[in-house]
Amino acid sequence: MPGSAKPHPALGVGLWGLGRWTAEDEARTKATIGRAYELGLHWFDTAEVYGSGRSERVLGEVLQRAAAGAPDAFVVTKVSWEHLRPAQVRASLINSLERLGRPSVDLYLVHAPDRRVPLADTMRVLEALWKEGKVGAIGVSNFTVEDLEAAAKGLTEARIAVNQVRYNLFDRDEADPVRDYCRSHEILLEAYTPLARGVLHGRYLDGKGIPPEVRKFAHRLFEPDRLPGILERARSLRALAKESKVPLASIALHWLAKMGAAPVVGMSRPEQVDSNLTVWGIRPSDAVLDRADAIARGDRA
Ligand SMILES: NC(=O)c1ccc[n+]([C@@H]2O[C@H](COP(=O)([O-])OP(=O)(O)OC[C@H]3O[C@@H](n4cnc5c(N)ncnc54)[C@H](OP(=O)(O)O)[C@@H]3O)[C@@H](O)[C@H]2O)c1
Repeated sequence: MPGSAKPHPALGVGLWGLGRWTAEDEARTKATIGRAYELGLHWFDTAEVYGSGRSERVLGEVLQRAAAGAPDAFVVTKVSWEHLRPAQVRASLINSLERLGRPSVDLYLVHAPDRRVPLADTMRVLEALWKEGKVGAIGVSNFTVEDLEAAAKGLTEARIAVNQVRYNLFDRDEADPVRDYCRSHEILLEAYTPLARGVLHGRYLDGKGIPPEVRKFAHRLFEPDRLPGILERARSLRALAKESKVPLASIALHWLAKMGAAPVVGMSRPEQVDSNLTVWGIRPSDAVLDRADAIARGDRA
């Protein structure tokens, strides 16, 4: 049987932030990865572009130090949108495996489409890598329904297991149709930016400015025309959380789970691992999640 698909974990640790960090931050990230692994949070999300490979290298170093090289970790990395030509894909994976210090990854994602390269051509190479056992499962990221359909044409035996997209209580208009398609084609939706960069942990709701590095690559989350409305709805969600005696982030993450998505949360310090596991362990009622859904849509609570 080609590939060795492991069951997909429900909650992931995102390692994007590493790309902008200092040596001190790198040490803290290693402690974060170690803490997550120790507590059974085994899904790690990285990419060849994160810190130009630094994120993969740091993850690899920590996992190699774990018992037997952490064979039970669920390692996800991505081939850059700049490397989707067939001759480039294999080289990208080999370089990622070298940095990770592993013979294979559990899930390999196309980071985003490149309109100049037919997606089916890229997928044919991914299928070959899957047959060789270098990739446990094949996935994509930032794919629309049309992209998913085009990509599927390149696969004969393997299938697209995952689509990773930006999805949270405030960013859903683009993701909702993709989610519906994925659900009907048994493609798991991984949700990135699930906490709206910390807003759904209650950050920035009391007047604190949003640092430039948090604004970076946040799509339209923090643009002046959207931000006041988002903060107002986030404050209403915080009031709902308080009234319901659950953490705001529990609402954010379990709303995603109710939508059928698996959240991958950016974590940069060990305390956040503990805190996010606590939050994840508290499931708000369906009634609370439905009210949160309405508030986030802008309906009156
Ligand atoms: N496929 C793609 O194109 C794509 C794009 C973006 C992201 N991703 C992946 O998705 C992951 C998550 O997305 P994201 O980083 O954009 O957003 P996010 O998960 O919504 O927010 C992450 C930020 O929330 C804060 N946070 C996390 N836990 C916290 C806690 N317990 N208490 C308070 N604050 C907490 C942290 O801020 P501080 O670090 O400032 O403390 C963290 O950086 C990334 O790391 C990456 O792996 C993929």
